[in-house]
Amino acid sequence: MSINSEEFYSVLASRMKASAIREILKIIQRSNVISLAGGMPDPATFPTEELNEAAKQIFAKDSARALQYSSTEGLQELREFILNWLAEDNKKADLDNIMITSGSQQGLDLMSKVLLDPGDIVIVELPSYLAALNAFRSYGGEMVGIPMDDKGMRMDILEETLNQLKTEGKKVKFIYTISNFQNPAGVTMSLPRRKRILEIARKFEVFILEDNPYDKLRFEGEPIPSIYSLGNEGYVISLGTFSKILCPGLRLAWILGDKEIIEKLVIMKQATDLCTTILNQLIAYEYCRQNDIDKNIESNVQIYRKKRDVMLESLDKYFPSEASWTKPEGGFFVFVTLPEYINTDEMFLEAIEEKVAYVSGAPFFANGKGQNTMRLSFCYPKEKDIEEGIKKLGQVIKKKIKN
Ligand SMILES: Cc1ncc(COP(=O)(O)O)c(C=O)c1O
Repeated sequence: MSINSEEFYSVLASRMKASAIREILKIIQRSNVISLAGGMPDPATFPTEELNEAAKQIFAKDSARALQYSSTEGLQELREFILNWLAEDNKKADLDNIMITSGSQQGLDLMSKVLLDPGDIVIVELPSYLAALNAFRSYGGEMVGIPMDDKGMRMDILEETLNQLKTEGKKVKFIYTISNFQNPAGVTMSLPRRKRILEIARKFEVFILEDNPYDKLRFEGEPIPSIYSLGNEGYVISLGTFSKILCPGLRLAWILGDKEIIEKLVIMKQATDLCTTILNQLIAYEYCRQNDIDKNIESNVQIYRKKRDVMLESLDKYFPSEASWTKPEGGFFVFVTLPEYINTDEMFLEAIEEKVAYVSGAPFFANGKGQNTMRLSFCYPKEKDIEEGIKKLGQVIKKKIKN
């Protein structure tokens, strides 16, 4: 007789569903489908030789430390480096305000652990990052979505919604926003809205969780100060990561926030993994010490800018006039909206038959809408595959258009 594990799963484990994206990626990796689906960085952007050199030096001079346990807050030298590197945007932060995490995904998980009880409300953008929604959901968070336009989350609707929730006696714990080149929409929140969201957070006494992985991947236009840097009363917690600007394989990211909340997050992290791998932190720090990370990012920006241009030009050329899409100034993603009668989930298998993949938009929408939308990423495929993929996808969509 074998055990029926279903009967033993916690409420949390039962609530978690396999990510559609990960399942799709598994199929795609085995075939010759052009993938516009995953958000993986282009390996050509990884400074492989420099990281190899840094790793060799760490093993040669510091192996006892590199192979040992370390502090939960993270390597002090790396935290200091990040603070200095980001000083322009985060003048107020010092060592008590920063901790290292194993990817920003861990930051999302820890924030949920620290702030959410079942039934608590999290305000999210419509659409928003799927793995964040899953993290909030797994701790019993209930998502309320706020629509976006080309300037980011709509502040009028946010305020209205918070008023409504307050009247209903609902507890809102935080507003989750991806302020730059949003995943999946590619939209950036304007400066006036960043200032406004702070006023609103203060008025309703809720935290803002600013997730900022694409911040430095700006292709054009002026950088906008982060919400974290504009705020000054501890309302904002900010997540940054090396994943998109160095490489995701090291699994290194950081959280910036008030000392009190960092202390709580550190306690939670101890129960999760004791510490982020010190070996990787030392390698990253050695890399940053010996190389100019901004220069590497600048050459990565050129690679991604070109790919973005190829995608936007191809969309103009091959997509029907009934489709519309966002025009990101940075990051990895373009978000497409098709006529309401086209269901991108149903269209997916037809696209795979034509050897092109995308991510259908509905799972990104906390309100169950978005069936006629899709996310396209230009980060990973080669330029010629981006054009070819958009051409194939354009043909699939055109067959669905009603005259
Ligand atoms: C908005 C957003 N947040 C967090 C993450 C997770 O990043 P990390 O690799 O640092 O865990 C991603 C990765 O795609 C992302 O797009």
